[in-house]
Order: sequence, then structure tokens, then C-alpha cells
Amino acid sequence: MNVGLAGLGYWGPNLARNFAELADLTVLCDVSEERRAEFAGRYPDVRVTGDFDELLASDVDAVVIATPVPTHYELAKRALEAGKHVLVEKPPAMRAAEMDELVEIAAASDLTLMPGHLLLYHPGVVKLKQLIDAGELGDVLTIYANRQNLGIVRVNENALWSLGVHDLSVILYLLDEEPSEAVAHGNAFLTPGVEDVVFCFLRFPSGRIAHMHLSWLDPHKMRRITVVGREKMVVFDDMELERKVTVYEKAPWKRAETYGEWQTRSGDIYIPKIETSEPLRLECQHFLRLVEGDGDRGKVARDGAMVVRALEQLQDSLG
Ligand SMILES: NC(=O)c1ccc[n+]([C@@H]2O[C@H](COP(=O)([O-])OP(=O)(O)OC[C@H]3O[C@@H](n4cnc5c(N)ncnc54)[C@H](O)[C@@H]3O)[C@@H](O)[C@H]2O)c1
Repeated sequence: MNVGLAGLGYWGPNLARNFAELADLTVLCDVSEERRAEFAGRYPDVRVTGDFDELLASDVDAVVIATPVPTHYELAKRALEAGKHVLVEKPPAMRAAEMDELVEIAAASDLTLMPGHLLLYHPGVVKLKQLIDAGELGDVLTIYANRQNLGIVRVNENALWSLGVHDLSVILYLLDEEPSEAVAHGNAFLTPGVEDVVFCFLRFPSGRIAHMHLSWLDPHKMRRITVVGREKMVVFDDMELERKVTVYEKAPWKRAETYGEWQTRSGDIYIPKIETSEPLRLECQHFLRLVEGDGDRGKVARDGAMVVRALEQLQDSLG
């Protein structure tokens, strides 16, 4: 399978490395002459161009898009209209209507439209999903995510779009349900108009609720998702090397007969083994399988649209 890639900035080279190993990487595209010169040296057998139309006119079966977020919708649309399967970095569009349009074009031509929601391929997140789906946690009641760091403070994207898209994709994947309510509060303390601290609340038709704390202004570096079930609770902590997932046998147990208060149960705490495969490699492999016709192409696109809809609602409430 021939693959072309647009965007050779910070993230694109990781995609280039994986696709060069997993498929035939035949065309690389970037508007920056400097980036093109560097990649022509790194991949001497690959055609390097600054013209996205040249990439589309080539014999690539699939196009991978790792350009800045505001360009995603237009480039993905052009690639789908040229009959190419598309893997586009998250989020594929900044408005729900645009994302719906991409989903429709892909469906009408039976093409893959896969958003690069990296965390969905993280073996730790896959373990969370297995635990939930196997009923290990009992009914899931709440999920909350912490993504904080006194880190790179972006000036073009707020914390919701830059950080929240990761947690939102995971929360929706774990619950497999679209929120009926999505509200965000935040503030732009450093760059006017670009919220650097955002708190989000989500409510689902089933009654489950979720929360996200997203911030570049924080003493803690946290990459953590906590799932509270009626029987057990589980934490995915991506800052941990060996304890990515911890399962707590803690739960409300029974209402006490005499005092009317709930008794709680606190049992073992255990750490399931998590494979160490690179999530990006697993993501790229999943995309190639979908292109080959193995798996549900429509679902990844529709799930991606659910994420953009929730992001849009959260952004609208943020003001
Ligand atoms: N999944 C992840 O964990 C992860 C991590 C980092 C970035 N990303 C995503 O990857 C994308 C790129 O981010 P980045 O940090 O690499 O940005 P970047 O600014 O470092 O790189 C973007 C590159 O795209 C090129 N470009 C811009 N417009 C173009 C066009 N029309 N055609 C061809 N090339 C074009 C630029 O010259 C630049 O080299 C973003 O969507 C970002 O959200 C994902």
C-alpha cells in the first residue's frame, strides 16, 4: 500500500517513521522548504513536494495529515474527494458541521476517515476498556481526567482543544455514549482569548457523569484518568512507567441497618500487566487494517464526529 504524508513538523516525522516501516511511504509533503530539504535527505527514495495537489495526483492509496489543526478539514476533504483513505491528526475539523461533511464524503465513497486519537491505541486505555466491558468494575458511575502541567503554553490553541481532545476521545470511547450535556468553564490568564485553565463537565443519558481538568498552569504534571465503578475503581496514569493501570477493590458496600450510612468495602489493589508497544505504531497498524477492509471504517469516523461535537459544545459554553 502506498502512503503519502503531509506535515513534517514536530509530529509528522513520527508518522513517517512508522509508515516507512509498515507500508510503502512514497510521497512526503510540507510547505516549508527547510523541512522538505531535511526529509529529502532522510528518505532519499521518497518523492518530496511542497504541493498537496501533487501528493493527491500521485498513486498513493492513503494520505496522512499532520499539519496544523486549522488546515485539517480542508486538506482531509480534498484527499477524500481525490479518492484517498485519510488518517488525520486530531481533531479532523474545528466545527461539527465540517466533521459531519467529512464523515459523509468518506461514507459515500467507502473510504477510511480516521482521526489520530492516539490514546485509544494506548495499551493502558485498551486495558481500561477491557475491564469496563468485561463488567469487572460493575456499573461505571463517573470518569474524571487530569491533564495538567506547567508546560508548553500554546498561544494558538486553548487547553480544551490542545489537551482536552485526548481525554474526551477516551471518555467517549470508554462509555460509548454521547453526552447530553457538555459545559466548560475556564479562563485565559496568559494569552488573551486562549484559555489556559479549563474545567469541563459532561453528563450522559445513562446518568453517568465525567469531568476534565485541563491546564498549563499547575504545579503537577498529570496525565491521569480515573474510572469509578460500583464494584471497583481503576486509575490509568500515563506518568507511571510500570504502574500504568491500578485496580482498586474499593466500593460502596451496603447501607448500614442501624445508622443509615453506607458501609464501604476496601480490598486488594492490583496492577495488571500492560504491554509496552508504541501507541502510535498500533494506531498506524489499525489505520492500515481499515484501509485493507478489515474492521469497521464507519465507526472510527462517527466516533471522531462525536468528539468534535462535544468539543464544539464545550467551546461554545466557554465563550
Ligand atoms: N497525537 C499526538 O499525541 C500529537 C502530538 C503532537 C501533535 N499532534 C498533532 O499533529 C499535528 C501537527 O502538529 P505539530 O506539533 O507537528 O505542528 P508543527 O507546526 O510542528 O508542524 C506542522 C507542519 O505542517 C506544515 N504545513 C502547514 N500547512 C501545510 C500544508 N497546507 N501542506 C503541507 N504542509 C503544511 C508546516 O510547515 C509544518 O512543518 C496537529 O494536528 C497536532 O494536534 C498530535
